[in-house]
Amino acid sequence: MNKDGEFQLSDSVILKIESEADKYPSRKAAVKSALRYAQAEHGWISKDIVGAVARILDLEPIEVFEVATFYDMFYTSPVGRHPIRVCTNVSCLLRGSTGIVNRLREDLAVDFGETSSDGRFTLLEAECLGACSGAPMMIIDDDYHEDLQPDLLDSILESYQ
Ligand code: FES
Repeated sequence: MNKDGEFQLSDSVILKIESEADKYPSRKAAVKSALRYAQAEHGWISKDIVGAVARILDLEPIEVFEVATFYDMFYTSPVGRHPIRVCTNVSCLLRGSTGIVNRLREDLAVDFGETSSDGRFTLLEAECLGACSGAPMMIIDDDYHEDLQPDLLDSILESYQ
């Protein structure tokens, strides 16, 4: 909390955001990086974080919120320790993403937008993630998993505790 009782990001995140903002003629250009740093520290982008980023960059909270809600890599509600973003766009769909999604739903006992009961995984549907040549694919945390088959999923999930 700052002296006005408002939520404050850590000093190290504030320093990273300030250094990013110094690279651009407009501080608004640093919003995406700022949100990435904040999410890495807190796991998701809360209303308090939106406000804190806006104060650091001298912006209105809505200007930060718009960016947070535009990109699906930002989570505007709490997620499990390892968010799973499964691509269901056309290349992945044609190469079997439905089977991947069904297997994940079954194994984790969740639907899209839900978190497994042990708090490990949140299953999220994603638009094309730019790895169509490796379709079907998913991203866990920041790791790309391509050329998926349902039988490969157990060992992949096992490596995320
Ligand atoms: Fe799935 Fe492009 S359609 S990565």
